[in-house]
Amino acid sequence: MSDPRPIGLFDSGVGGLTVAREVFRILPGESIIYFGDTAHVPYGPRQKEELIRFAREIISFLIAAGVKYIIFACGTNSSLTLPLIRRDYDVPMIGLVEPGAREAVQATRNRRIGLIATEATVKSGAYQRTVRRLTPESEVFAQAAPRLVPLVEAGLSAGEEARRAVFAYARPLKEAGIDTLILGCTHYPFLTPHFREYFGPDVRLVDPAAATVLEAQREVERLGLINAAAGAPRHSYYVSGDPAGFVSAAQKLGYHLENVRRLQLESLPPEKAWRARPPQAAGG
Ligand code: DGL
Repeated sequence: MSDPRPIGLFDSGVGGLTVAREVFRILPGESIIYFGDTAHVPYGPRQKEELIRFAREIISFLIAAGVKYIIFACGTNSSLTLPLIRRDYDVPMIGLVEPGAREAVQATRNRRIGLIATEATVKSGAYQRTVRRLTPESEVFAQAAPRLVPLVEAGLSAGEEARRAVFAYARPLKEAGIDTLILGCTHYPFLTPHFREYFGPDVRLVDPAAATVLEAQREVERLGLINAAAGAPRHSYYVSGDPAGFVSAAQKLGYHLENVRRLQLESLPPEKAWRARPPQAAGG
């Protein structure tokens, strides 16, 4: 059995590219369709109802475009919308919270775990609950960092302003004595050099992307959805804002993207028309 259909990923902007690169590494035979909702970035300060509406529109588009599996390449959506909407769709989906929390729990020695993420992710309590469920004696120290996503989107992640912002947000976490820090927003791995500089070698930085994609790989294999065909995979990128801005922000982060097209969410047909068809039965 081989299933050539693409895997869908989505985020508010370039952050999900940190998850896409793990897909390229761990699942090199798979094609992807990536959606960056750049008309609505940042997601962090938005309300749950609005985020649910965006997520449903994006998922409907990805399903209509023929994806076989969806990775929520966004910490905010993984925390907030995935648990509420996944049961409405037949296409299997995964988010970052469970794999990220598990990795952090395995890494910590003093059971003091830091979380840095968007306001919406911190407020949702998703990581805090998951860590406590896995290890009730762990403490989670959470810090919202609203200035970081706009800096990464503006292509300024390497600059002094981003460095200072990271240091300021990281300070209370260092004072709390954490030994492990979850990078709970997919934009933040682009700021890893600043986090590393501030915390030094003794604090373990957990980017949930690799653990999430490894779990996705196991699920895709179990469901008989792997693409076993020879030949190069095809990747396409859609953004709801200006494609040129996305391409140039991505370029500054080391990604040379082709096939970037604009797709306005508002122009999508109503969701019912885009509902999923069940995945084809394995072995059929
Ligand atoms: N990269 C997303 C996340 O992981 C969205 C951040 C934002 O747009 O505020 O949370």
